Order: sequence, then structure tokens, then C-alpha cells
Amino acid sequence: MQDAAFGFHDLAPTEESFRDAVLAGLTHEPKTLPCKFFYDSRGSALFEEICLVPEYYLTRTEIAILEEYAGEIAAHIGPNCRLIELGSGASIKVRILLEALPAPAAYVPVDISRDLLREAAAQLAGDFPDLPVIAVCADYTRPFQLPALPGPPGKRVGFFPGSTIGNFEPEAVVRFLRHCAELLGPGGEMLIGVDLKKDPDILEAAYNDRAGTNAAFNLNLLERINRELDGDIDVARFEHLALYSEEEGRMELYLRSLATQSATVAGRRVEFAQGERIHTENSYKYAIPEFRALAARAGFAAVDTWTDPAELFSVHYFRQE
Ligand code: AVJ
Repeated sequence: MQDAAFGFHDLAPTEESFRDAVLAGLTHEPKTLPCKFFYDSRGSALFEEICLVPEYYLTRTEIAILEEYAGEIAAHIGPNCRLIELGSGASIKVRILLEALPAPAAYVPVDISRDLLREAAAQLAGDFPDLPVIAVCADYTRPFQLPALPGPPGKRVGFFPGSTIGNFEPEAVVRFLRHCAELLGPGGEMLIGVDLKKDPDILEAAYNDRAGTNAAFNLNLLERINRELDGDIDVARFEHLALYSEEEGRMELYLRSLATQSATVAGRRVEFAQGERIHTENSYKYAIPEFRALAARAGFAAVDTWTDPAELFSVHYFRQE
């Protein structure tokens, strides 16, 4: 086989300092830590394990929906599209679309993790030799510009799977989708995976799996602080807590201190009261009309929404109004 060629545009995204974010979050009242820092190499491996536990239905259900409706999705997208994936990671799910699409003009994976992006782009270019792959290293949570894309001008379609959008506050969803509209330009369309509201018992089980994988994932944030910020947090004296808030329509993850204790992180002293929580993640869940209403505020009109038979997860297709 020939060497797979792909384009690579490095927009040199600046990553928020882990140290600054941790010190700010642990001195904040109430204490918080940003969920994006879950994904060091250990955390990414634990997330992949979460995707395999029986209670965590999200990933496998989204994949099943994409597989079941790939033909319908491809018909909406049509020929000559430029498919732009925001936070493309290992570019796994997009393969389902690429197999179904009629002659896509380009695949544009966008990710902040430079090495992962390069590796994923090379793999994909090897597996789809006729597909131009133009990787863009950027922080998609901030506005950025796409490079010139090859071929005749065609429809730009944004792909944002995984219910990653559930980590945004609802107002931030609207801001993000407005940026997407700008990035895609007039006529640009979006395919977005969104976890649905459902029986809280199902939700709480998904984030409290019996094997303890979610707990290990959440607690890894403290271990990462110890590893990278010269911390001495007694991780065994914290517990994982995942609760559904009906009021907010979201899963909330916390790390709860089991004792009155103190620790040193990056040379600073931090105190924890017994029972005190560090808020580590929100994962919003949306009924279909709720999510459509948010998208409408960013100028996106619903074309179609697909779900699984148990109505656990949704995949939305939007066009600009
Ligand atoms: C990757 C944001 C979709 O919210 O379900 C899994 C992350 N956190 N278990 C989610 C997560 C705890 C996940 N997302």
C-alpha cells in the first residue's frame, strides 16, 4: 500500500494550565475541577473501559443508532460534503458515516491533542485512500478558522458525537453552536449526539457502574494532581459520587472527602472538611424538543432526529435556517 497522505494544520492551541485550573478550583467555594482534565492517558483508558461496562449505555447506543441510520444520515448529507469533526479523538465513530457517504470531498478532524490527531488522521487516510483528510489541531471550544479545503465547494457538515455537548452549560451550548454556524458558513449543517432524559435510576446506574470504573475515572483526577502537581492528596479518603439533579436535568459528579483532611498541591495547602465535595462534572440530558429549542437559538433547524428503541440516546441532524 502507498503511504497515506493527509494534510495537517497546526493552529497552535494553548492548553489551559492544569496547575492554574486546579489551584483556582480547589480554592473556590464550593470546590470544583474542570472535567476536561479527566483525560490524561490513564483517564482516557478508563473512559474507554467505562464505554464497555454494561450500565454505561451511551457509547454503544450512539454507535447502534449511527449504524442503523447511516443510510438516512448519508442521504441528508449528500455528495461532495466536507465533514468536520469537532474533538475527533481516535476518529472511530466517523468511520460509520464515511462508509455510508456518497463521495465525501474531505474529512476534517479537529482536536487539541496533536499526537492523537496525527495518528488518527494517518490511520484514517490509510483506510480511506480516496478521501482527502485534512487534520486541524485546534481548541474547538474557542472560535477558530478552517483552512482552505480541497475540491469544488460543497456542503460543510459538522459532526459532534458522544454527548460531549452534555458537558456544556445550556447557554454555552448556544454559544458553541453559534460558533459552529460561523465555522461552517451559510448552509452548513450539524450532526450531534445527545444523551436523552430518562428514568434517573438508569442514569445513576450508568455513572455508578458495579465494577467501579466510573469511580476510578473520577478519582483518577486526584491521582493526576498527585502525579503532575507534586500533590499528596490521600485519594483513599475520597469517594466518587454521581447524582441526577431533576431540577438541572443533569448528572453531577463529585469527589467527596471522607474525613477532615488537608493536602499540599503545587506547594499550596488545601483543606477539606469531612463530607465536603469537589464538583468534577456536569453531564446534561435533553429531551428532543429541549435540545431543538437550544439549537434554534443558534440558527439551526431540526431536519431529523434518530433514537434507539429504548429511547436512551438521540442523534440530531440540523440545517441552518
Ligand atoms: C464523555 C462527557 C459523554 O458525560 O457521560 C463518563 C463522560 N463521565 N463517566 C459522560 C463521563 C463519567 C461522558 N462524556
